[in-house]
Amino acid sequence: MTDRTIWEEEFSNRFKKHEEELRYLYCELYHNDTQAYDYFMSMLYRLWQERPESLKKIDRAREAEPDWYKGNSLTGMLMYVNAFAGNLKGVKEHLDYVEDCKVNYLHLMPLLESPEGRSDGGYAVSNFRKVQSNLGTMKDLRSLATECHKRGISVCLDYVMNHTSEDHEWAKRARKGEKEYQDRYFFYDNWDIPNRFEQTVPQVFPVTAPGNFSWCEEAKKVVMTTFYPYQWDLNYANPVVFNDMTDNMLNLCNHGIDIIRLDAVPYIWKQLGTNCRNLPQVHNLIRIMRMVTEIVCPGTLLLGEVVMEPSKVVPYFGSVEKPECHLLYNVTTMATIWHTVATQDVRLLSHQMEQVFSLPKDYTFLNYLRCHDDIGWGLDYPFLSQFGQSEVPHKKYLNDFLTGRWPSSFARGELYNDDPRLGDARLCGTTASLCGIEAALDSDNKEALERAISLDTMLHAFMFTLSGVPVLYSGDEIGQENDYSYHDNPLKADDSRFLHRGDLDWNKVARRNKRGTVESKIFKNIGKLEELRDSHRAFDSTADTWLEETGNPSVIGIGRYFKGEKIVSYFNFSDRMQSIWLLKPEKYVNLITGKKHNLPYADIEPFNFKWFGAEEFGA
Ligand code: GLC
Repeated sequence: MTDRTIWEEEFSNRFKKHEEELRYLYCELYHNDTQAYDYFMSMLYRLWQERPESLKKIDRAREAEPDWYKGNSLTGMLMYVNAFAGNLKGVKEHLDYVEDCKVNYLHLMPLLESPEGRSDGGYAVSNFRKVQSNLGTMKDLRSLATECHKRGISVCLDYVMNHTSEDHEWAKRARKGEKEYQDRYFFYDNWDIPNRFEQTVPQVFPVTAPGNFSWCEEAKKVVMTTFYPYQWDLNYANPVVFNDMTDNMLNLCNHGIDIIRLDAVPYIWKQLGTNCRNLPQVHNLIRIMRMVTEIVCPGTLLLGEVVMEPSKVVPYFGSVEKPECHLLYNVTTMATIWHTVATQDVRLLSHQMEQVFSLPKDYTFLNYLRCHDDIGWGLDYPFLSQFGQSEVPHKKYLNDFLTGRWPSSFARGELYNDDPRLGDARLCGTTASLCGIEAALDSDNKEALERAISLDTMLHAFMFTLSGVPVLYSGDEIGQENDYSYHDNPLKADDSRFLHRGDLDWNKVARRNKRGTVESKIFKNIGKLEELRDSHRAFDSTADTWLEETGNPSVIGIGRYFKGEKIVSYFNFSDRMQSIWLLKPEKYVNLITGKKHNLPYADIEPFNFKWFGAEEFGA
């Protein structure tokens, strides 16, 4: 056991709180390997010692206010450093714009060293201690984080923990035949065991990277590659892997990263005969990581990337006594929103909201409309089946609509990993293009354009109405359209997710200040929504939430109440005007116009919404 007599008090106190559980879980996972555990503990202490005092101050403040990320004051934005401003220094220079977007949580997409053309958008890391040279240095990262902290902005970064690039030092040594390094991955002499895995493990990229294993010619062995063949799965049953990867994670925290996005976390434990997703050991590892951050850097949040159905997502919050992730993506709600755009029918969305509203308010979701990934159609098909809708034809309809193939569609998107065998294609596109802005501009149709802007705004209003942390995708604040240039780039052409990963167009950004432009309308609308959300406590993420009956299949109503303030909101997903009765005899003020609304009904324009504050409830 490491010599605790020399541990400083702060570390020691935090450790004591978790000691018993930490030791138990670690020793259970690693078969009482006390040597590994001792190393792990001394590593934690070293990282705590190395942690800059400025970050320790933030830790202490957040420890004193552990709910700092709840409430209604965080608004996020995710961006690729190069697409936004070329490199890390560029991002730092453009922080005024970030503030102009009223954003105080900045998610920088993967920026660590990753081989060009074999990087999966940066998700194949070859060095966890080095920034991609075209983006800058670790020093630049630290300096950007420091400047963000000065401005009250938290920084989020991906921690790609399931795999390394095949160019990572460990992979290179494994390839050369060093057993110690092969043991950090899953290596097999022949295809016997891999073939047995294939019987129970689904495929992530059935078209762009079929299968879960690849042949490594140099080692003359088979290696597990759940994602792309150049992404080698790490073996977390080996304590050396967990120790060194935890060291890598904490090193990022010590560079000023506040929010660690746990990439592809359900996949990190593999076991023959299972689907290798969400295994109990994954939860033990995340629980350990949560305790680790509470000991070394308690100002840090863990954001789990669990792109699965709700029953698989929610367990990643852990329990009140034993929490795991602080934040999780509200992925089913996101996909259901786009289903509702395509169908103009809110029944599934209402059902989904009911499920979310029934969860403990302590569970904080990250809400989003679009991110760097495709939209997967993980909808509640058993619920849809009561309306005669079944999975394969329904997905086909959604994809037809959102790619613009459906005759009445206004959307412009592209399929992703279209696997005709399974009828399981997913979808790509920016919010603006999916909402019809691109098609309306192309056909110079002013009426369609206004409607598309309205839909885009309404979807943002819907996102801001949900409890949790809303995160914009950079470019959405000015209605950026799809970028088709990736088709001409041989390194990207196979992956349609690049459709919505285009460079931010700074000429368009400049037009946000020019009256009457699409950019100015969307920017102003979103800004207004952000201001209202920030200034009304009913948007607090721990508010009471419920569905407001609308009796209208195209209009969903959501009520919120917190500390004496009540807001009811209505979203019309149809392309026609809808009227709804306001069932409660309350006096409302329309939060957007500031005007009183005393009528017993409300008319809601096509693709539009109302945010009503109930006057007697303080709004
Ligand atoms: C996550 C990322 C995705 C990437 C995958 C593999 O799902 O969001 O972009 O392809 O992990 O690292």
